[in-house]
Amino acid sequence: MDRIRVVGGRPLEGTVRISGAKNASLPALCATLLTDDPVVLSNVPEVRDIRTMGRVLGALGASCEFRVGGTVDARAARIDAVEAPYDLVKTMRASVLVLGPLLAREGRARVSLPGGCAIGARPINLHLQALARMGATIEIEHGYVEAKAKRLVGAEVQFETVTVTGTENVMMAACLADGETVIRNAACEPEIEDLAALLVKMGAAVAGAGTPTVRVVGRERLGGARHAVIPDRIETGTFVAACAIAGGEIEIQRCAPAHLRAVVDKFRETGVRIEEGPDNLRVRAPRTIRSCDVRTLPHPGFPTDMQAQYMALMTQAAGAATITETIFENRYMHVAELQRMGADIRVEGRTAVVRGPTPLSGARLMATDLRASACLVLAALAAAGETIVDRVYHLDRGYYRIDEKLRGLGADVERLT
Ligand code: EPZ
Repeated sequence: MDRIRVVGGRPLEGTVRISGAKNASLPALCATLLTDDPVVLSNVPEVRDIRTMGRVLGALGASCEFRVGGTVDARAARIDAVEAPYDLVKTMRASVLVLGPLLAREGRARVSLPGGCAIGARPINLHLQALARMGATIEIEHGYVEAKAKRLVGAEVQFETVTVTGTENVMMAACLADGETVIRNAACEPEIEDLAALLVKMGAAVAGAGTPTVRVVGRERLGGARHAVIPDRIETGTFVAACAIAGGEIEIQRCAPAHLRAVVDKFRETGVRIEEGPDNLRVRAPRTIRSCDVRTLPHPGFPTDMQAQYMALMTQAAGAATITETIFENRYMHVAELQRMGADIRVEGRTAVVRGPTPLSGARLMATDLRASACLVLAALAAAGETIVDRVYHLDRGYYRIDEKLRGLGADVERLT
């Protein structure tokens, strides 16, 4: 059980390179199930969740070779099994993304229900309703979804709530369906557009990705492709927050500023100086951080995956900031740990009020989920003395060597194994 030790108080300087996006790589790996030809993905982050997805694909009979430097050779020449087992799905809910491709290609899929997680109940009812509209029979038994369809049929799907992986599952399923599928109230995240770009390279007919209405005309089969996944916009935002809270000036390279408009605008509002280049950001921390309210929303709104990191910054801001979490019902697990460092935060339902600036002191902390753990590491950069963050396996699920990257920027951070 690795831990991370941070001694706070050092401003950051230098450059950091952003890795590929976890949340674009996961659906891209699942899309390789839609063809028996080879697919080569590059810029894939070497993080724990990607390895888990490799094991899920392996359990289905597909090969997934990870090469150093973020290239993955994937090929589902044959599908030997259509079951995504509980033991894998329970460690990573994104495994549910094999449901659409398996059903479309094999006419059958058996996927363990993901169950709840630290940040919320996170049901997949909308995924199942949409696939049922496309002609699948769906049964839930023994904790598994059993889905069957001789061949999926194009349909009109309207999502009651915007869902990222729901949109991705239906987009992939529709690629081999008979006829046209129209997805309304679709998620517009950059990861959706990136998946569509891969699917089109594989020969699919996908239009409107990145807008609330996505159209897919099914094909008999798809082919192979080569595709570089987009940079990780949440990792980028995390480093903007790190610089803002620790002080100093950094350059963030190999990122996609256009993908985090709401984040850049919000941090500027707090006083952070941010200069944008085509694939880089120059970030300078302000002397005084202004407290600003924020509400998490689906893209292009402020991402829920940046809420915890933003909260860490608001503990050092002058005044009171109201944070409203509209996506997940239980995404304040980091609050109690921040309070243990001395932060002044009040939570009522989906709203948290953060008063600052309050001096933080280093402490022994426990990470509970991916973004909460990033928040604790950021808070530790501003805290007096030493902080130890336990259970950093959460962090490793979605950040590539964040401790090394922070050390490269001059922070006093080390991994205790
Ligand atoms: C994706 O999760 C991301 N994960 C999450 O990132 C991210 O927080 C989330 O989108 C929102 O941006 C991946 O892409 C792998 P949703 P997803 O379906 O697709 C409700 C991270 O830190 N809902 O868009 O699972 C749901 O409960 C992770 O990298 C239903 O009610 O999220 C939630 O309240 C954490 N029924 C809301 O919709 C459904 O069938 C949005 O969830 C589906 C969703």
